[in-house]
Formats: sequence, structure tokens, C-alpha cells
Amino acid sequence: MLRIAVLVSGGGTNLQAIIDRIADRTITNAEIAVVISNNHGVKALERAKQADLPACCVSPKDYDDRAAFNRALLETIDAYAVDLIVLAGFLVVIPEEIIDRYENRIINIHPSLIPSFCGTGYYGLKVHEAALKRGVKITGATVHFVDKGTDTGPILLQKAVPVEDGDTPESLQRRVMEQAEWQILPQAIDMIANGRVR
Ligand code: GRF
Repeated sequence: MLRIAVLVSGGGTNLQAIIDRIADRTITNAEIAVVISNNHGVKALERAKQADLPACCVSPKDYDDRAAFNRALLETIDAYAVDLIVLAGFLVVIPEEIIDRYENRIINIHPSLIPSFCGTGYYGLKVHEAALKRGVKITGATVHFVDKGTDTGPILLQKAVPVEDGDTPESLQRRVMEQAEWQILPQAIDMIANGRVR
């Protein structure tokens, strides 16, 4: 059974997709051991509570400096003895000590077709604003392994999504979530849980 830590920052819709796909057995051999948020009082923590999942908040605001936060985050993750860390809308840079400790065992969902619209400063709605500004006709989402760069690790899955006339960043984000993110992140977890990833 693959034990997963899901790291979140806000709405938790990707977390919800994982919860729902485990419940309907689209994902097998995996369980969410803990949900960790870097923000207090976010909907993702409510979703974890609704699903009776262990959840906690490790917020930089609660620590004197970044090193203390990094240590607390690592200790929290280690305490749950997880096999895989899933960044699901997690907006904090993962400290190098965690990437070293969990090498090739951290995946992230990014709301574009990497290498487009990714890297520092490209997160949330900003990604879709950039795609609309550039005028691309196809965008999508990417699941990749996390390395020490920003959105630079090996790509595991991608799914394309059409940009439609009149799209706003919000309407495009919603379509990318519904048609891509909420599909490929659970799919990637199921692949890893069932040994289908080299
Ligand atoms: C969304 O912009 C999503 O594309 C990205 O993180 C943000 C929040 O996702 N992965 P969630 O609703 O908190 O899962």
C-alpha cells in the first residue's frame, strides 16, 4: 500500500480528486496518510476533515525563520512514514533537504504543458493569463517529478486542453482543472502505486 502525503495551499480541488478516485477505486494500492497545508483555514483542510484524513498546517508564519519552517515540514512528513509526496496546488518552494530525502518520490501538478508557461512566477491564474496573452490554442496540465529546479523534473503525464474563444483566465483554469489536472494527478498516483513507473 503506497502511503501518500498530499501537500496543499488553498482550494484543494486536486486533493479532492485524489480522495474521490481512491474512494471509487480508480486509484488502487494507495492511501492518503496525511494532508499538510502551509496555510491555516483553507478549504483543502476542510476537505481533509470531511474525508476523516489526518491533516495539519505547517505555516512559515508560525516559525522564526525559513530554516525552522523547513525543518518542521520535513519532520512532519517523516512522522507519517510516507512513500510518495504529492504537491497538489502547494505554493511553497520545497526545501532541498526534502528533495534529497525523498529523491524521485515527489510529484507535482502544473497547470500548463511544460516547458510552456512554467518556472518562477508561473502559478495559479498567472499561468492561464500568460497562455491567453500568448494566444496558444492548446494548453493543458503536466505531472512531473520534483527536482531542485522549478517545474524542471522528469515529466510523467500530460493532458492537452483546448483554449476557447472568449476564455478568461478563470474559465481556462477551470477547464484545465476539470479536463486535465483532476484526471492525470490521480492517474499518476495509480501508476506509481502499481509499479508502472520506471
Ligand atoms: C490551481 O491553479 C492548480 O492548477 C494548481 O494549484 C492551484 C490550486 O489547486 N495545481 P487546488 O484547487 O488547491 O488543488
